[in-house]
Amino acid sequence: MEETINIHVELPDGSRVTLEAPTDMGLSVMEVMKANELDVPAICGGMAICATCHVEVLQSGELPELGDDEAYMLETLPHATWSSRLSCQLRVTPDLDGLVVRLMPEA
Ligand code: FES
Repeated sequence: MEETINIHVELPDGSRVTLEAPTDMGLSVMEVMKANELDVPAICGGMAICATCHVEVLQSGELPELGDDEAYMLETLPHATWSSRLSCQLRVTPDLDGLVVRLMPEA
């Protein structure tokens, strides 16, 4: 059964776009943003080692725990906030419906 959720992304100009994301394909939020041609370099392809998929979570339900690699990368970023995440480490699940993230400057 296919299910989709909505993810809202705040762009650098302050506008927001809403993306539909399937929950049954094992995609990350980074992959959904790239598939919608948002400007997310994601140089490492989702391995949590480049931080060019950095987002600030503005609103969410339950999020997965920070992984060790993700936490380490976020600590190195000058623009990181307490709600920063690497979007490649956020799997699209029904829990993420209504997620609001802001694209952050890359490190
Ligand atoms: S794509 Fe490189 S850390 Fe997320």
